[in-house]
Amino acid sequence: MYFSLGLKMNKKVFIQTFGCQMNVRDTEVICGLLEKAGYQMTEELNHADIILFNTCSVRQHAEDKVWSQLGEIRKKFSCRKRIPLLGVIGCMAQNYKEEIFKRAPNVDFVVGPSDIHKIPDIIKRLSAQHYPLNAIKVWQTNGNIRPEEIYHTGFYQDKEHAYVVISEGCSNACSYCVVPYVRGQLRNRNYKDILNEIKEAVDLGINKFTLLGQNVNAYQYEDVNFVKLVERVERVKQLKEFSFITSHPKDTTFDLFRVMADCEKLKKYLHLPVQSGSDRILRLMHRGYTRKFYLDLINSYRKIVKGGVLTTDIIVGFPTESRQDFEDTYDLVKKIEFDAAYIFKYSPRPHTEAQRLPDDVPKAEKERRHRLILELQKNISNKKCQ
Ligand code: 5AD
Ligand code: SF4
Repeated sequence: MYFSLGLKMNKKVFIQTFGCQMNVRDTEVICGLLEKAGYQMTEELNHADIILFNTCSVRQHAEDKVWSQLGEIRKKFSCRKRIPLLGVIGCMAQNYKEEIFKRAPNVDFVVGPSDIHKIPDIIKRLSAQHYPLNAIKVWQTNGNIRPEEIYHTGFYQDKEHAYVVISEGCSNACSYCVVPYVRGQLRNRNYKDILNEIKEAVDLGINKFTLLGQNVNAYQYEDVNFVKLVERVERVKQLKEFSFITSHPKDTTFDLFRVMADCEKLKKYLHLPVQSGSDRILRLMHRGYTRKFYLDLINSYRKIVKGGVLTTDIIVGFPTESRQDFEDTYDLVKKIEFDAAYIFKYSPRPHTEAQRLPDDVPKAEKERRHRLILELQKNISNKKCQ
């Protein structure tokens, strides 16, 4: 995903965002902090004094895009007198840490997702040095708790809609997923701070919100769980509409469905990644539910949340996925008739358990399975549209 922001002031910063909504929100947070520190955002790479890539590690393809962009930047600025500072931030920064400097020597600093509040200071320090080019490298990847104030700069890209982070990191152990490694264990924000941020945004004229977390259903702060948080958000005056992403089937409760049915401002929209329709593969993925559990859950969702929209994520070609396992996924997609499905080809990730399994579904077969589910879902979506 491409995302850049523009304003006018002193030193100019260009920022490009890759990956999910969490990264889109992190980019806003960084823009807010930089703006407060007197920097100016630019959409023009050529005008930038500082270039930032807010990166994603979820699949190899996402990382490849960044490595190639870093190479492009190197070529582009190699014969210029003035070379901008270059920072790699976000999930890839955490994944590779100082190794990034070896692979991309033109990078000046590397900052992980839990250290983003340090970016203005790092830029200030690096800009103030009279150093030979690329002599000083800075990396910050040890952070854990983000200071609460970073969420309160009032910087939102959209004037009507805001993403609000309710929790950072993830404590599930899905065997394919790099997120717990790059974003750490689950940390819940205080519900009072979340509500304050929403009210501040409402005061700015924003009235639509999306609550963000890797697994929102696991939210718990003191005696407030996710359902209670949703009820409190519903009561915020002048808020017109809200939704949440992403849910995990094992933590999704009937209580949540009831609250979805009852809350007038809450969109009847559930993104519930199933990942696979095969019990054997779900077990290898450590998803913590079975095919039957998922089917029953959807049955209840549709009964309780009338007209509720349902979308999902699916991975094809997970290690050892047989034709039969794939057929099970295909059959589940056919049975459930999602409103939309995001289909991904399995990509081995460092620091994950699945990386130790053989990536044994041939590329062509992964592509075939990917194509088959895409086609099936396309037909389902078309039928639903009619
Ligand atoms: N390979 C392919 N897809 C993945 N996802 C997460 N990790 C991987 C991986 N290693 C997909 C999952 C997740 C979505 C955000 O990305 O389907 O729900
Ligand atoms: Fe988002 Fe996951 Fe990509 Fe990080 S690795 S940007 S959390 S999708």
